[in-house]
Amino acid sequence: KMTTDNHLRHVESLPVFPSGAGNIPRLNAVILGEALASEENDYVFPSDDFSRNAHVSSPSQYLEMYKRSVEDPAGFWSEIASEFYWEKKWGDKVCSENLDVGKGAVNIEWFKGGITNICYNCLDRNVEIGNGDKVALYWEGNDLGSDDSLTYSQLLEKVCQLANYLKDVGVKKGDAVIIYLPMLMELPIAMLACARIGAIHSVVFAGFSSESLAQRIVDCKPKVVLTCNAVKRGAKVIGLKDIVDAGLAESTKNGVSVDVCLTYENQTALKRENTKWTQGRDIWWQDVVPKYPSTCDVEWVDAEDPLFLLYTSGSTGKPKGVLHTTGGYMVYTATTFKYAFDYKPSDIYWCTADCGWITGHSYVTYGPLLNGASCIVFEGAPTYPDASRCWDIVDKYKVSIFYTAPTLVRSLMREGTQHVTRYSRKSLRVLGSVGEPINPSAWRWFFNVVGDSRCPISDTWWQTETGGFMITPLPGAWAQKPGSATYPFFGVQPVIVDEKGNELEGECSGYLCVKHSWPSAFRTLFGDHERYETTYFKPFPGYYFTGDGCSRDKDGYYWLTGRVDDVINVSGHRIGTAEVESALVSHPQCAEAAVVGVEHEVKGQGIYAFVTLVEGVPYSEDLRKSLVMAVRTQIGAFATPDKIHWAPGLPKTRSGKIMRRILRKIASRQLDELGDISTLAEPAVVDQLIALADK
Ligand code: WTA
Repeated sequence: KMTTDNHLRHVESLPVFPSGAGNIPRLNAVILGEALASEENDYVFPSDDFSRNAHVSSPSQYLEMYKRSVEDPAGFWSEIASEFYWEKKWGDKVCSENLDVGKGAVNIEWFKGGITNICYNCLDRNVEIGNGDKVALYWEGNDLGSDDSLTYSQLLEKVCQLANYLKDVGVKKGDAVIIYLPMLMELPIAMLACARIGAIHSVVFAGFSSESLAQRIVDCKPKVVLTCNAVKRGAKVIGLKDIVDAGLAESTKNGVSVDVCLTYENQTALKRENTKWTQGRDIWWQDVVPKYPSTCDVEWVDAEDPLFLLYTSGSTGKPKGVLHTTGGYMVYTATTFKYAFDYKPSDIYWCTADCGWITGHSYVTYGPLLNGASCIVFEGAPTYPDASRCWDIVDKYKVSIFYTAPTLVRSLMREGTQHVTRYSRKSLRVLGSVGEPINPSAWRWFFNVVGDSRCPISDTWWQTETGGFMITPLPGAWAQKPGSATYPFFGVQPVIVDEKGNELEGECSGYLCVKHSWPSAFRTLFGDHERYETTYFKPFPGYYFTGDGCSRDKDGYYWLTGRVDDVINVSGHRIGTAEVESALVSHPQCAEAAVVGVEHEVKGQGIYAFVTLVEGVPYSEDLRKSLVMAVRTQIGAFATPDKIHWAPGLPKTRSGKIMRRILRKIASRQLDELGDISTLAEPAVVDQLIALADK
């Protein structure tokens, strides 16, 4: 039994609902709107009706469950885990952990010894309990009118056929498989097929360039790559197979070759006759997979066997292979999905994230399917053919839970409310936000306009590393404050520390850490446990360090303030500034580069690059374009720098360290806040930079 910690005191301060609270949000949000003086005291209450029917209906019910979850995590989580199918129950120890580098290797295990399979729990189990004819996936294509769907039974058959194919070409338990697919139903099918046979999937977002893809292939050495020939995004056709071809050629040069490239023919985008082909390696999905039997025995795995690898950005150039295992991830994603969205079997759920990111793993594929939900997989761009596409989809499928990123909210907000109000949106019940802090004005627009002041917003704070929601509203349980992720989920013990690692009490700001493990915590960085420890556990010994800044207000609400390391969030996509820098300096005419994030009206953060050219090379518009191109080809279009700022020199300390603080101020034109620049090796570079700011 863990002891009751200080953090319990923070959740105990949850405000009690005043009677008749349900009438307050309309008044607050609509009548007072932006005029509300104090953001922090601006409670938005769920309606009485919503609360009454919610899984968790009141602060006290939450408190009771939360207390149990941290005082008796083993009991709390085993009870929930027992709702799933286990071929064999876990051993005596539900959780064993060491987060303290001083006490030896960092180690986290949940349900060790338990034998299960997440694909079985997503599909077979749902068919068995009577969900076989329920729609598992609705697919909405890029073009208006193109759609499809699969019931749980049909999805199971498709997954089994692919699983049989993968086994046949030699994929075994523990082998890696790279998936480079857009949002076709084949993407979740591919993930589930890997999980079924115990293979480790690594989905690479299909917006990454061939070089990024190659880097990941070289790191995890997959047996097979699954892709499609092309995809339509908006009015554009993107030749994914060409990118894969280049990626495979590049990885072969680096000593890793892949024997099988299974390619789905995405006919609306490109016909097979027009697809470049490597005989022997490339195989058309439709030619082989349907010939395989539609049942496939499950490979039973240990709860601690790896489920997937997902590469994410850190503060150095090399992406990190975040490794998640099976049992804890399964239990946690299912539970967070259920509570944070107050999921009910009649809900229709749409998460706009791509399965190439963690949100698509945990909350397009696994979390919803484990709950037997009907979810939408959307291939297209949310503003194509116009800014009302999302609401068209909401009405078409009667979406009741809509989960998206603040960047989309802000971009739609700019297009005007008429795109929204033309549609009914009556089906909506719960809204969700993820990826970056949601600014209060975007929050209000989302709440008032999209949700007609009726739908609570679950602003879910979490990370690739955490696997599932960490700090999130439970929509019926307590009042929200626009811009705050509110309170910790069951079992999560957030702490805010100062730079020395002292835990701060009450109202405070500092670095956000987490004490103790939770079931879906990542277990290592693939092939680099040392980097895992150094990045996440050494900065504040005994805690998991999130990389985020955070404050807690007098009511115990948590407010995420953004990254405190060299990672930036651009349109909810996580990008390491070091990755962009390394792409820039690979350009033959670039001598040095420093990249910082700068506030951006729609994207949240934009990419601002200071570039020093090789001696004697003149600035030019063409060079600027080719530098931007270098980033697009090395990382992907989503990492396109917003600004290249010519820099004759960079502000450095005498020991040669770039002073990013100063660069951030210059980038955001806060020139009167540069602070002390006398410690710079060459203070004059600052004036040079300012002079070139708009050149
Ligand atoms: C940021 C995405 C504020 C945060 C799930 C975190 C957020 C990083 C929120 C992880 C939120 C995510 N409020 N900030 N609701 N959600 N973030 O790994 O900086 O792509 O560290 O996972 O996104 O990004 P990642």
